Amino acid sequence: MRICFVCLGNICRSPTAEGVMLQLVADAGLAEVISIDSAGTGAYHEGELPDARSRAAARRRGLELVSRARQFTKADLDRFELVIAMDQRNLRHLQTLAGTRTAPAIRLLRSFDPTAPSGAEVPDPWAGGEAGFEEVLDQCERACAGLLAYAREQLG
Ligand code: 4NP
Repeated sequence: MRICFVCLGNICRSPTAEGVMLQLVADAGLAEVISIDSAGTGAYHEGELPDARSRAAARRRGLELVSRARQFTKADLDRFELVIAMDQRNLRHLQTLAGTRTAPAIRLLRSFDPTAPSGAEVPDPWAGGEAGFEEVLDQCERACAGLLAYAREQLG
């Protein structure tokens, strides 16, 4: 199963979700069957490492974020079975790009967290303080646990 996390810049939220999910998948012994990537709807930060604040927050939880930012393209719609948006704006962008296609599945990340309200987003932490980055990690950890359970179900 191929999964891609998508935010706006691909330097804060989606690389964080990618790092959290990579660790969960590795711990579950599923690295051979679940592949993880991330991308941004925008291209502003192409080639950059994740934001230093995202990397520092992840490192405090034992995660190294090493992805490089890239833009999500139409071709990516053929490369993934599941594309996961961080907020409603990312979701709408992806749905517009996909048009009438029925695959890949496009979902909000927090829809995999049974404790999150319907339609809940992972807010963009970029223009705010440290706490926002911790919150992104908390939200990613809860949702990715649910996502792993979902993936296991899909894999049978
Ligand atoms: P992200 O955060 O979408 O979580 O990577 C952002 C990073 C950069 C910008 C916006 C959001 N920006 O406008 O440059």
